[in-house]
Amino acid sequence: MAGKCIRRVGILTGGGDCPGLNAVIRAVGKTLINDCGVEVFGVEDGFRGLVLDHVRPLSYKDLSNILTLGGTILGSSNKDNPFEFYSESEGKPGKRDRSDDALRTYRRHRLDALVCLGGDGTMSIAARIAKMGVNIVGVPKTIDNDLAETDRTFGFDTAVSIVSEALDRVHTTAASHHRCIVVETMGRYAGWIALYAGAASGADVILIPEIPFDPKAVCEVVRSRYDNGKVCTIICAAEGAVPIGGHMVVEKTVAASHDPIRLGGIGKVVADIIEKETGVDSRAVVLGHVQRGGTPTPFDRALATCLGHAAAMLVMAGRFGRMVRLKDGKISDVELSKVADKVRKVPPDEPLLLAAMAVGTSFGVRRDLPAGRMHAWRRAGRR
Ligand code: F6P
Repeated sequence: MAGKCIRRVGILTGGGDCPGLNAVIRAVGKTLINDCGVEVFGVEDGFRGLVLDHVRPLSYKDLSNILTLGGTILGSSNKDNPFEFYSESEGKPGKRDRSDDALRTYRRHRLDALVCLGGDGTMSIAARIAKMGVNIVGVPKTIDNDLAETDRTFGFDTAVSIVSEALDRVHTTAASHHRCIVVETMGRYAGWIALYAGAASGADVILIPEIPFDPKAVCEVVRSRYDNGKVCTIICAAEGAVPIGGHMVVEKTVAASHDPIRLGGIGKVVADIIEKETGVDSRAVVLGHVQRGGTPTPFDRALATCLGHAAAMLVMAGRFGRMVRLKDGKISDVELSKVADKVRKVPPDEPLLLAAMAVGTSFGVRRDLPAGRMHAWRRAGRR
């Protein structure tokens, strides 16, 4: 489609919220209104608003004073998939395909394109909606930093700063009481948040889903620290951390969600094992949604602004079915289908992982030489 045909563009935020969403909405909207004379519309509460026709015009004024604001002015939902929409019909709750309603809303408002901000779930839905004839441009969003084909998602830097501050803070209280404190982070099936915050704050042990841990090895670290005169132990555990041969700890399931599993609780499991096996007074702190709230860091605001601007440019160029991204230090774009339903995990050659191992951080596997630890991980990863 030629750029001159673009007159009306919708913006939608899907999945869990994250700091920087408003900065993207602002950049997409202001670029389109200012530079291109396009009318901009906000779809409320993610794909739910597209199915139920909750769409409102966004003026330049609506887009002002939101750069530093956390959350999303449009609202979001991580459980409303138009292809499996959870609703009641004739008194019976159930999942129904309401994608036709989503398409009708898009057409009713005579939208020429829809910019979707979201993670892998949103990109999968967006890729399917695109096949129905909706002109989609995606913008990657998640604190988890686990989206395929992109090196960094906005929101991640803010989450890492929050976790890092929490680790620094628990350090002083753990030292006063000679305790072990386990700080549990978000991140789903990837350990990016725990790895970056743990390394930044010098956690003694970092547990991530990519490296199944040996509880005995973790206890050994705690014991040996006390034997060597250390006064406390700080552990940063990703919510998806898993013991060798064990399972991730599931807090609850959300039936209507694209990914119904909600992880949570591994921090307490680890703290309890440590206290029982070593006798060291131990506590668990779950940071939860604190990691997703509040003001984005300057890095996330800047990244969000670049991505939002790039998304508006893609729309004007008529290059649809694509997602903008930061890759190899540059803003570029990639086919949506390459991103959908994939999880980008911490790879074995991640530089920060190797550096953390080299400076003596334990990843909860047997404390051999670094080469031995890598070997143990590769073995565990093959299971
Ligand atoms: O994907 C973002 C995320 O915050 C994950 O880190 C976490 O597992 C999940 O969402 C929590 O989801 P909810 O907001 O539904 O509790």
